[in-house]
Amino acid sequence: MPERSLLDLDDLSSDDIIYILDRATRFHVAPPERNLLRDICVVNLFFEASTRTFTSFAIAEQRVGADIVALPPGSSSLGKGETIADTAITLAAMGVRVIVTRHPESGFPYRLAESFDGHVINAGDGRHAHPTQALLDLLTLATEFGRVAGLKVALVGDILHSRVARSNVIGLRRLGAEVILVGPQTLLPDAMAREGVRIERDLDAILPEVDALMLLRIQRERIASAVLPSLDDYARNYRLDAPRLAKLQPHAIVMHPGPYNRGIELTEEVFASSGWRYVQQVSHGVYVRMAVLDFLVNGRSA
Ligand code: NCD
Repeated sequence: MPERSLLDLDDLSSDDIIYILDRATRFHVAPPERNLLRDICVVNLFFEASTRTFTSFAIAEQRVGADIVALPPGSSSLGKGETIADTAITLAAMGVRVIVTRHPESGFPYRLAESFDGHVINAGDGRHAHPTQALLDLLTLATEFGRVAGLKVALVGDILHSRVARSNVIGLRRLGAEVILVGPQTLLPDAMAREGVRIERDLDAILPEVDALMLLRIQRERIASAVLPSLDDYARNYRLDAPRLAKLQPHAIVMHPGPYNRGIELTEEVFASSGWRYVQQVSHGVYVRMAVLDFLVNGRSA
């Protein structure tokens, strides 16, 4: 039987998600004493640029005591024609138990997981999924508000090409939040609406009603130029700036998965605003990833 992997948030029940968030909170308050992943070998296989996610996983792996190998994409034999399946078999034969992977192709971690006798963690695949980012976002909301259920959360910008948005929608719905997707037609087709997920084109109109805003980067590297909106138009309609900040409720928070593009999806005023939670998100990422590693490898502890 294949071991448990985390490829997207629909691999987890709402119970599992709550368990991981609780565990991450505990790790935040008091670092785990024992080496939870002692003698477990983890390979980090990243085929796409990453500052936050790569470093965050590496730190999390160290904090749970794993043995870590970073395999730079240029050094893997996938470039020499080896199949994903053969790479998976090879790594498993050396005793690798966990592969954390990021890849520009949607579905890559799924194909790896089919052949790998161990756990695969998706650290971002194409425009498809980024489950640990969604978990750290959920932890940020839960820490701020004491709950996720019933919160009104708006995701703003390039929803269509965003793996962060896709995984967040699953997680937010699982935990009972109300989701509003905000963006222009080209970056947010009407077809993305579904139960519990509302589509809005007018950012100004929804600002006074939300508890949290999640800003997203325009994924230029994944967008066909035909649908790329003019950045001026985009900024005029969707950039968070001082007048828009003033329309938020006093308790509302502003999140961004990073990397952010100053002047496009936000202005400098956002960094000084009381609701800006980017630093907390990044910090939560380490604890969430420790909790995910522990959950996959060791299961639930009593
Ligand atoms: C995101 C990603 O790579 O999916 N960043 C992240 O992991 N924190 C978002 C992005 O690239 O815009």
